[in-house]
Amino acid sequence: MQKEVIILAIESSCDETACAVVRNGREIMSNIVLSQIDIHKLYGGVVPEIASRNHVEVIDAVYREALKEAGVTLDDVDAIAVTYGAGLVGALMVGVSFAKALSRACGKPLVAVNHIEGHICANYLTYPDLEPPYICLLTSGGNTSIVDVKDYDNYDVLASTVDDAVGEAFDKVARVLGLPYPGGPKVDELQKQGEDRYSFHSVLLPNGNFSYSGLKTAVINTLHNGRQRGEEINPADIARSFTVCAVDGLIRRTTEALKSTGRTTVAVAGGVGANSYIRQRLSELSQKGYRVCLPKLSLCGDNAAMIASRGYFMYLDGNFAPSDLTADPSLKLRGQKPHRN
Ligand code: KG4
Repeated sequence: MQKEVIILAIESSCDETACAVVRNGREIMSNIVLSQIDIHKLYGGVVPEIASRNHVEVIDAVYREALKEAGVTLDDVDAIAVTYGAGLVGALMVGVSFAKALSRACGKPLVAVNHIEGHICANYLTYPDLEPPYICLLTSGGNTSIVDVKDYDNYDVLASTVDDAVGEAFDKVARVLGLPYPGGPKVDELQKQGEDRYSFHSVLLPNGNFSYSGLKTAVINTLHNGRQRGEEINPADIARSFTVCAVDGLIRRTTEALKSTGRTTVAVAGGVGANSYIRQRLSELSQKGYRVCLPKLSLCGDNAAMIASRGYFMYLDGNFAPSDLTADPSLKLRGQKPHRN
């Protein structure tokens, strides 16, 4: 029988302080996420310095709660995984320092996890039987890519945004619509009541990549021009048309990627993977015979269980962190090539 591997993971790349314990990369024993949203919404977005200070204040309590809920002690843990990039440098440093100290104190190996790879692994927690290869639509606050997941450790980035990430576009549109931070979920709620009345320019570039900065400008111009002409604009219609435009391009490229690679499974990852329209459009692909994986809503946003899952596969490979590990705020997904506009 395969030996049981228990990973304790720490995640602090942005405004969530998180710690989780996961068995064999796929079974969550605990997953504690302490969000700082209530603090940052006073400022309309994440304030990096405040985020770092709050991580320092709560990380020890979050770690203790994760062990308690999992019913384990550090002695039961095989390795400690930590997000070391991408993210806010000060915020990342808190988690990296904490994990390094833990690893040193208890003599357990340290595994340095790329946050973006962690998002992809959220799928293994919802679908314990899922194995590569598959196509993953990666849609977070900082990334928008279509990834061919060839193996647990081998990715090809088939398309990505050349400017804003789709999550960023949701947040910026929320702001111009006067919705509070974090904007993505609020735009999602609003778009459900709207009609697709505006045709915004496609986010697809001729070279196969995406561009979201033009869509955000188009929304601003539509609102501005409409108001100048004294037209009554229903914000829900704007939210709906924006969502349809932002998502339809992603679905089109995802479908093309499935066809060109011959993959039969498609997954979504990242915060925007919680969006109701993206989930609906991806679900429709099952009618064409594809297996569609939609991680639980609680696993789409930042959490440490996904970091533990990624850490498990790295642990099996003996891929351990150096003792002088530090944060890498601009870390990319391996396989991601520089953009050609
Ligand atoms: O993956 P994530 O939690 O953070 C990064 O690792 O980047 O993604 C956060 C992003 C934010 O831009 C947030 O507004 C967006 O995901 N988001 C959504 C929804 N829920 C979160 N966007 C659209 N619809 C949602 N339901």
